[in-house]
Amino acid sequence: MKGTAKFVRAQLLYSWLLFCSLQGCWCTVTVTVTPTVEVMKGETATLPCSFTVSTPTSNSIVEWFIEEIGTRTRVAFTTQSGGEGAADDGTKLSGRVSIGKDFSLSISPVQVEDDRRFHCQVTAGAAGVGEGATQLKVYSEPEKPELTGLPEAVAITDKETEMGHCVTKGGHPEPRLVWYKDSNPLSEAENQMYLHASVVREVTGLYTVSSTLNLRPRKEDKKAVFYCRVEYSLPEGVAKHKDSDTFSLPLLYPTEHVTFAVVSSGPVKEGDSVEIRCEADGNPKPDYDFTFKKEGAADVKKEAPQGVLTLPSVTRDDAGLYRCEALDFDSSPDVELTKELTLLVHYLDPVMVSPSGPLTASLGESVELTCATQASEQLTLQWKKGSSVVSEAGALELKAVSFADAGEYSCVATVPSVPGLQAQANVTVNVAGKPEIDAPSNGEVQKEGDTVTLSCSAQGYPSPKFTWTPPGEESVTVQGNKLVSTVSLEATASVLKNGVTCNATNEHGSDSKHLQVVISEEISKEVAPNDRTDKQEGDSSSVVIAVVVSLLLLLLLAVLLYVLWRMGKLPCGKKEKKGEEATNGAAVEMKSDKANEEAGLLNKPPTTEQ
Ligand SMILES: *[C@@H]1O[C@H](CO)[C@@H](O)[C@H](O)[C@H]1NC(C)=O
Ligand SMILES: *[C@@H]1O[C@H](CO)[C@@H](O)[C@H](O)[C@H]1NC(C)=O
Repeated sequence: MKGTAKFVRAQLLYSWLLFCSLQGCWCTVTVTVTPTVEVMKGETATLPCSFTVSTPTSNSIVEWFIEEIGTRTRVAFTTQSGGEGAADDGTKLSGRVSIGKDFSLSISPVQVEDDRRFHCQVTAGAAGVGEGATQLKVYSEPEKPELTGLPEAVAITDKETEMGHCVTKGGHPEPRLVWYKDSNPLSEAENQMYLHASVVREVTGLYTVSSTLNLRPRKEDKKAVFYCRVEYSLPEGVAKHKDSDTFSLPLLYPTEHVTFAVVSSGPVKEGDSVEIRCEADGNPKPDYDFTFKKEGAADVKKEAPQGVLTLPSVTRDDAGLYRCEALDFDSSPDVELTKELTLLVHYLDPVMVSPSGPLTASLGESVELTCATQASEQLTLQWKKGSSVVSEAGALELKAVSFADAGEYSCVATVPSVPGLQAQANVTVNVAGKPEIDAPSNGEVQKEGDTVTLSCSAQGYPSPKFTWTPPGEESVTVQGNKLVSTVSLEATASVLKNGVTCNATNEHGSDSKHLQVVISEEISKEVAPNDRTDKQEGDSSSVVIAVVVSLLLLLLLAVLLYVLWRMGKLPCGKKEKKGEEATNGAAVEMKSDKANEEAGLLNKPPTTEQ
């Protein structure tokens, strides 16, 4: 484009020089225009024009002309002074053109036929006439190329065959069509092909470009991806392209290989959904014959649409020999069209536990459990209780059972070589015995008359029945192998004094525990009297009480020691006081002789009293 501009400028200069040489160069009109203006079809084009005059004059006339086959037609004009610009009637641009005060020509909307040369001519009285030319370039984006005439089947031959027709419409200037194969442009020079191209200029001035691809069909091209591309330019030197849809050549060729395989990510086990796929590489795909043969049995024909046999949930009965035959009568005789495969179906039988069913053992007895099963491969057996493994074999011995041994046991069989092949059986073991109550916790209330909630948990089988004394509102829950009884009752004076008894009983015996209810604020006061009753009843509970009792005993010992110290110290002081020492003397003296006591404790020499 720069080249064009230079060229135009050179031409202008040349005209001017010519003019000068003729006129003697003493009176000139110099016109300046833009050599090239580019615009998209339908938009507005502005063609500037300005001029200078050697001899100033007030009534210059500016006129715009278009060039039509050899002749010039004026489309608009204006005068320098008035700005009374006007468009001419009856031209190709009438109704779309206007001239500005700055003498520029505006065209809106631009049409493809406006792609031509425009001249700005200035007539300046005595100074003469000058002019400049602008080339208007109009652009229009072509449509995406459309493919037609794609063949349905192409036999492999030595002759070039028509493979498709590509058309793009609406481009301006003339766009270019290029065929591509696997992202590489096809050229007639390198490939065994030729193109048949045509360009039509429509009434609108836009181009319709088409191209037909003729190619020698080769089997190597069976997976090649073809398309055609339109390349076009836009203003300011922008190059763009649009691609058609892609297509492959529907080549016809006989089968050369047959593949036959089980579609599976690992060993097949019972219950899996299995697909057995037979595939011949010819085109079109041949039909397939599927047969299944179990050892010692006759062939069974199987339905396999498109060569795919689907077995939704296989069993060991589906294991055996499968055969697929591709029925391609065009393939060469040395192509092996029949393939066979053996389907293995792994299995694991249900686990049998002996003794089965829930079993009950008495406390201290021994229990032996065994489990067994069969599988297509090496299997492992494991006994589990909950998530912990209790035996790494099919046998499980529980020696001298306790309540902790009661519960559900699972025998888990796995086939390590076949992921996911696993079976299990469960058995419940009950341990029969008289109930055992765990250390229950005591209750606390704010004040007498409040409701207190106490709970007591017990093991034992059959499940124990709970009795609360005094009775209250009861509920029983199961926690693991324990039963928990919860009671809510009023903390009456009698409850605060005597506590509450929880009794758990079943056919093997009973257990009972005594629970304390205390008033939380006055806990230290309440403990002492209750402590005695606890001891009488042999209740081993309440650690708190024991601690408080120990503290009280320590205090008593301290008082005794103090009294003894006082008595031992008296002979050194006044003796007449000795007789006055009463039972309550210790308490009295503790207050009055506090200073001395502290001094004694600090190992100061005892001061003489009074
Ligand atoms: C055995 O117990 C487990 C849970 O411990 C359960 O998931 C499984 O279904 C039970 N199996 C049988 C056969 O009852
Ligand atoms: C528990 O209650 C049962 C039935 O009332 C009774 O026979 C048994 O002696 C009580 N057990 C204890 C330990 O108090």
